[in-house]
Amino acid sequence: MSETRENQSSKRRIRIFDTTLRDGEQAPGASIRPEQKIVIARQLARLGVDVIEPGFAISSPGEFQAIRQISRELQGVEICGFARCVRDDIDAAVAATREAARRRLHLFISASQIHLDFQLRKTQDEVIQTIRSMVAYGKQFVDEIEFSPMDASRSSEEFLYRVIESAIDEGATVINVPDTMGYALPEEFGPLFERIRRNVRGGDRIAYSTHCHNDLGLAVANSLAAIRHGVAQVEVCVNGIGERAGNCSLEELVMAIQTRGESLGVETGIRADQIYETSRLVSRTMHVPIAYNKPIVGRNAFQHESGIHQDGLLKNRNTYEIMDPEAMGIPRSMIVLGKHSGRHAIKHRVAEYGFRLADQELEDLYRRFKATADELKIVTDDVLLKLVGESSGVAAEPYALLDLQVLAGTQRTRIASVTIRRNEDGSEASYAASGEGPLEAVIHCIRQAVPVEAEFEDLELHSLSTGEGAFGEAVVTVQYQGARHQGTAVDRDIILAAARAYVSACNAALLSGRSFGEASGQ
Ligand code: KIV
Ligand code: ZN
Repeated sequence: MSETRENQSSKRRIRIFDTTLRDGEQAPGASIRPEQKIVIARQLARLGVDVIEPGFAISSPGEFQAIRQISRELQGVEICGFARCVRDDIDAAVAATREAARRRLHLFISASQIHLDFQLRKTQDEVIQTIRSMVAYGKQFVDEIEFSPMDASRSSEEFLYRVIESAIDEGATVINVPDTMGYALPEEFGPLFERIRRNVRGGDRIAYSTHCHNDLGLAVANSLAAIRHGVAQVEVCVNGIGERAGNCSLEELVMAIQTRGESLGVETGIRADQIYETSRLVSRTMHVPIAYNKPIVGRNAFQHESGIHQDGLLKNRNTYEIMDPEAMGIPRSMIVLGKHSGRHAIKHRVAEYGFRLADQELEDLYRRFKATADELKIVTDDVLLKLVGESSGVAAEPYALLDLQVLAGTQRTRIASVTIRRNEDGSEASYAASGEGPLEAVIHCIRQAVPVEAEFEDLELHSLSTGEGAFGEAVVTVQYQGARHQGTAVDRDIILAAARAYVSACNAALLSGRSFGEASGQ
């Protein structure tokens, strides 16, 4: 439910500067291979970011080549080379971005006293001297120079003004004020931009940007405060990844602007329908899982378990949702079935699979459902379809996994076999396959056993509890005829859960678009 969009043209356009491939890659364990960078960069361009900072050219030959390829290929987006105030860094950043259609050079140096004393070991005058000579050096090669005084929010304001003034004097065109340590509070961070603009010579003729870290969970709030105080650009990372607690999350900032644009008076050029795809790609490629409750892209962000909420949503989704997940490319599975769910939600979910139950069948299903929910917490679709079968006497799933055997261990090749029943005619068949891991072997088996042209896209495994008796949850996503379908299963045996989830995703794909009469009397 976004605010009304009158006066659209009067909104100020905020430029989105994406640093997922530079600052985001500094998240512990997130570094990726050069050839993966180009894949993410292409998706960022599709998403509609204004600037991509693809990496730190001096850091390795592979990084240099990746930045070069991105600069050469993505001619529709501005590419930003990143460098310390050091000649070799600048040379590498300039060379790596040479083929970009539009480029800028981003130079940074610390401005806080603690960084000067313990990290740079330079006096304030020496820092000013370095800024002057390095900005002037970079300006010979690139017109658009962005300058960042690192740790700005913990710097003395008098010195910060001097730092920024010297960068502007030498030709900086964008001043990026970072809250490097995620220390600022919105009410103090926003007005800082106005004081800089007022107190710095030339401060009213350049563009401002901000770059906020999330150590206190305030990165988005601080970025919005900066927007309210006039910044033209915000630096963000997909899924909020980055150093320590991460950076301002692209999707959170963009959706705050989209949802509350009238109050903020601003807009972005981001194509919201690419948000989910981008988030998944970054999470998968950089191996940074997304917290369930992460706003916008977390798995629970649009899921509701409470019966009261589910009932309201089914009547009008605006009762409990302020954004439309489908507009961000998020598959709509808003209702999680658990012990708090009511008849209305259960009936709705089985109807999504094409089953219309008679009243008595629904009552029976409801009773079985509640007993199962007490035990399993979440009733996944494959379990629900089994219960539909028990209540109606008709096997609701096209395919059922009857047996699974896996040989895992220290040998290189793992072997699996599955027995599957095709419920339409009751036929059963067994299949065997091998793989480099037990999951791969199982996936190969099921692919033979369930002949659906569904492309296996993703498998997520989660531990639902701790200790020896822990339950594992598997979520499999398949692509079928241009649509995504998910299957979820929970079991103490995580391989079995993955196998069930895969069969369930294939069943969901097969059932999509089919419609049945009452389950017992199709
Ligand atoms: O967090 C920070 O200060 C940075 C700058 C180099 C922009 O990443
Ligand atoms: Zn940063």
